[in-house]
Amino acid sequence: MKFFVDTADVAEIEELNALGLLDGVTTNPSLIMKSGRDIMEVTKEICSIVDGPVSAEVTATEFDGMMAEADILAKIADNICIKLPLTMDGLKACKALTSAGHKTNVTLCFSANQALLAAKAGATFISPFVGRVDDMAADGMELIAEIRKIYDNYGFATEILAASIRTVNHVKEAALIGADVATVPPATLRALVKHPLTDKGLEAFLADWAKTGQKIG
Ligand code: E4P
Repeated sequence: MKFFVDTADVAEIEELNALGLLDGVTTNPSLIMKSGRDIMEVTKEICSIVDGPVSAEVTATEFDGMMAEADILAKIADNICIKLPLTMDGLKACKALTSAGHKTNVTLCFSANQALLAAKAGATFISPFVGRVDDMAADGMELIAEIRKIYDNYGFATEILAASIRTVNHVKEAALIGADVATVPPATLRALVKHPLTDKGLEAFLADWAKTGQKIG
């Protein structure tokens, strides 16, 4: 499973990338707003840190506007992935951009049928929003499982990018189902390493080691 980090915070991206944990980055207009940075400037900086795909989202809602914005965003760096909303215009732009050789991420997916359309439009990634589905008292993971089944039935190459991840269990469940990628907030990504028995075990090993009076090397 690939890990993308879901943030436009450059310091967080640098730190996680240095750990060797990052396969890509996803941003959206809300995350750009949170960063307080200019979209072109911050996206360029992120693209220079991470080798993998960096999703940058269009804000136009009609095909022509999406294509014009995509053209500008695509020039930022070779690893830009154009993020498009799951609307008819977004799908049309997805098809055109994919055919022109761009990477695309179709976002705001909340149903299996939407994901089917995105795959038919040639999306590189489909982003089902697990946490926001859970917020509606529905089951976000069931959505991931449905999409996995449909994509496998027809051999679609579109990668399932589990998005709106809120918990470490979301990551585990998405991995068990076979999502190709999870885009995870920095704090949740860091939380994946934590286990109280690891801390306790390490403490005990270090205490015993101190009693030996030895040093390695
Ligand atoms: C995905 O690409 C989105 O940026 C993100 O995962 C949305 O998450 P949220 O529902 O926590 O805002």
